[in-house]
Amino acid sequence: MKRISILALLAAVVLMTVYMFLTLYDENLKIGRMWETPAVRPYEEPMLIMEKAVIPVKGGEAVFRGLRGEDLISPFENSDPQVIEAGKSLYFIYCAQCHGKYFDGNGTVGQSFHPLPGDLQSVRVQSRPQGILFKEISYGIPNGRQPPLATTIAVMDRWRIITYLKSLGPRE
Ligand code: HEC
Repeated sequence: MKRISILALLAAVVLMTVYMFLTLYDENLKIGRMWETPAVRPYEEPMLIMEKAVIPVKGGEAVFRGLRGEDLISPFENSDPQVIEAGKSLYFIYCAQCHGKYFDGNGTVGQSFHPLPGDLQSVRVQSRPQGILFKEISYGIPNGRQPPLATTIAVMDRWRIITYLKSLGPRE
């Protein structure tokens, strides 16, 4: 009996100490607890009024999205060496990890895709109009795995990459 009461006493002391530590920690906490911070309910704050001209109503990505690939024309000269040079470095930033440094689809990241990235020097791709390539790069390939890169690559840079790809020509 004596043993049990000693054990009970010990347990009580331990519990009390733990409780004291916890409350001490809680009371000295610098960051407010969730239940102490003010809760903002829906519509409690006034609605923000959108400034004029925040949403573009003409130009921009929507135009490209709406047009057929066949109707999109590249703003660049196909043989402009400066554009081709710029397109090359952009290709190695945005495409090579999947399509490979030899454009054959053997990029490291690309190997985890199904279907695998295609050969960009195949006759199929090389004979495709630039506008269609633009749409594929920008918005992905329907039911395919090409990532839509419209929000990643600027419009003019997309055209530069396409000019570069076209300059490679079909694989022999
Ligand atoms: C994250 C990986 C990835 C990146 C980055 C990527 N692609 Fe692809 N691409 C793919 C895959 C996977 C396919 C195969 C898609 C399919 O057939 O559905 C593909 C397909 C294509 C096709 C169609 C090929 C064909 O045979 O019809 C073109 C063109 C293409 N990519 C161009 C590009 C260009 C240009 C870039 C860089 C701007 C790029 N891709 C970046 C993964 C990628």
